[in-house]
Amino acid sequence: MAGTVIIGTQWGDEGKGKFIDYLASKADVVVRSQGGNNAGHTIVVDDKKYALHLIPSGILYKNTVNVLASGIAFNPRGFIAEIETLQQRGVDTSNIVISDRASVLLPYHQLLDGLAEDKRGDNKIGTTKKGIGPLYIDKVAREGIRVCDFIDKDAFKEFLDAKVAELNQLLVNYYDHPAIDADEIYQEFSDYAERIKPFVKDTVSYLNNAIEENKNILFEGAQGSMLDIDLGTYPFVTSSHPTTGGFIIGSGVGPRAIDKVVGIVKAYTTRVGEGPFVTEEDNADGDKLRTQGNEFGTTTGRPRRCGFLDLVVVKHAKRINGVTDIALSLLDVLTGFEKIKVCTHYEIDGKVVEDYPASLRDLEKAKPVYQYLEGWTEDITKCKTFDELPKATQDYIKFIEDFIKVPVTYVSVGPDREQTIIR
Ligand code: GDP
Ligand code: IMO
Ligand code: MG
Repeated sequence: MAGTVIIGTQWGDEGKGKFIDYLASKADVVVRSQGGNNAGHTIVVDDKKYALHLIPSGILYKNTVNVLASGIAFNPRGFIAEIETLQQRGVDTSNIVISDRASVLLPYHQLLDGLAEDKRGDNKIGTTKKGIGPLYIDKVAREGIRVCDFIDKDAFKEFLDAKVAELNQLLVNYYDHPAIDADEIYQEFSDYAERIKPFVKDTVSYLNNAIEENKNILFEGAQGSMLDIDLGTYPFVTSSHPTTGGFIIGSGVGPRAIDKVVGIVKAYTTRVGEGPFVTEEDNADGDKLRTQGNEFGTTTGRPRRCGFLDLVVVKHAKRINGVTDIALSLLDVLTGFEKIKVCTHYEIDGKVVEDYPASLRDLEKAKPVYQYLEGWTEDITKCKTFDELPKATQDYIKFIEDFIKVPVTYVSVGPDREQTIIR
């Protein structure tokens, strides 16, 4: 049995897609367990760029099965659009399995996401407006619909009529928004239901059989640890668990299905959306990181907020996920900085703080305390081994490793599948 988890250790966009694609060459199954098409994973193979949102990043390999497990926010419209785009580019999309237990995201979730954000005004979260929050609200309130019922025409119709009647009260009376039409949704989505039927399976038994058969399973993280609903920067988080525990619940497997947890650490830090970001550089350094790292959202196109590496964040992520290996990504983006700052702890009200605080007020006051490491100017994008990297780059990697006390097993020096160093 070999189950490997790939998770983001920061606020998402750490380069998970690239590593999942890279590691998927040896995987039999790739599983997405939570979140939905709020994710944007970029894969580059031979100069060809693929942006994936809901489809697991193992899709470019013919023999890898891609599972959308029970914890997913399954958007049928997004799913169909994504497989059509992939098919147009010659990608075989037959190897996809969708859980019969996954929650179905409908257009009103997206509508509610936008309306709730507008209501929040200055306190907005900066969501992707994909309907993720409202979908999980419905699920936890036990008022949602799952794939098994969505593909049953009568069950879907009955659910939708009741749901929309109730929802229209909220839309009209609270949001001052015109009522929506259940039939219109039904017309569009019953067609999707027919089209997804062939992909639907009991993924709990499928995955557990695969585990018993000693298949290699890759659990694909979406979002990042600091966006976890319980363990992240609440309320500036997503509505699911993009952490190791999220795979167990969201896939329906036991904890022993996982024997390796690879934490993807971007060599600096980015965040898209609102919320605390202690090492943010809202200045020329931040602009340089954004330009060199092409830091614009894959899903929403928003410019990402940028700053140097925050090891308080990475340490938090190591603990809450049980990280066994670090994959350090986008290291080439740091080329050309004379000094590279690394935050080792915070100072709050004159006190040293080493653990990530819960309180937003504390985080507002937190000052990052930095170590200044030597930068490098050499182009590292063609380096194939650790030894080929400049000494200052090697020292940067070793600093992270010593501080976090987890080996940096993989290093990424460019977006292409091939630009990966294994130690
Ligand atoms: P994900 O959401 O974690 O999968 O990450 P995204 O795909 O949203 O963002 C990461 C971006 O960095 C993408 O545009 C990748 O193509 C790119 N990328 C990944 N690894 C590297 C790297 O090592 N160097 C550079 N320059 N770009 C990278
Ligand atoms: P990948 O998988 C970066 C952020 C949003 C917002 C917050 C809540 O590409 O790393 P949501 O739409 O989920 O309710 O938004 O979470 N967010 C992400 N940020 N990468 C992602 O995914 C994200 N998915 C959600 O920007 O701040
Ligand atoms: Mg992304």
